[in-house]
Amino acid sequence: MIIRNPKFEISVMNPKQYPTNDMPEIVLAGKSNVGKSSFINTMLNRKSIARTSSEPGKTRQLNFYNIDELFYFVDLPGYGYSKMSKTEQDKVSKAIETYLTTRKQIRIIVQLIDIRHKPGANDKIMYDFIRKTNLPHLLIASKADKVPVTKIDDYLNIIREELNIPNESLLIPFSSVKKIYTEDVWKVLEYYIK
Ligand code: GTP
Ligand code: MG
Repeated sequence: MIIRNPKFEISVMNPKQYPTNDMPEIVLAGKSNVGKSSFINTMLNRKSIARTSSEPGKTRQLNFYNIDELFYFVDLPGYGYSKMSKTEQDKVSKAIETYLTTRKQIRIIVQLIDIRHKPGANDKIMYDFIRKTNLPHLLIASKADKVPVTKIDDYLNIIREELNIPNESLLIPFSSVKKIYTEDVWKVLEYYIK
């Protein structure tokens, strides 16, 4: 995929402020700090289109990135950020739920899970929620550079077991540091935005 001019467009919570055109949308979901914003930068081969941080809770709203007027990457706020107040966490969960259940132009939901850790309760809730929407989804095991290459399959199997992922569902390892597997991921995403 050749990207020419990716642009940040808008940061919103309120559905009334979502972009009003009907371009396809590729959504990034996952726990706070799992690497969603880094994933967007890596896929676009840019350093800092999407804002990232070593502190969890960087992305607090829904961020729409307009990719060459072809589609949007929608960077969702991370869930499970413990330092956020309960009220604020509830607000974020509600905004994510509203978006995922009402937005018609979502073509695929990409859920990131940290390859090193057993998926947590929040990851399970999100995964089950995504399956219930019946939208296409892709699972990404992020930060694959943090485990030995020879162990990647073992870690993927743990994630599969914990989340009860059917054999036919894709779970692709990914690393924004080593920038590996990006072509495999593009192949999947391109299919859904055609
Ligand atoms: P929120 O916006 O808080 O929901 O986080 P996020 O999911 O957008 O995570 P972000 O991309 O900001 O990355 C969080 C931290 O993890 C940053 O310090 C990144 O540099 C680091 N990180 C992201 N992807 C990778 C990766 O593939 N490998 C390694 N080693 N670190 C990564
Ligand atoms: Mg982020």
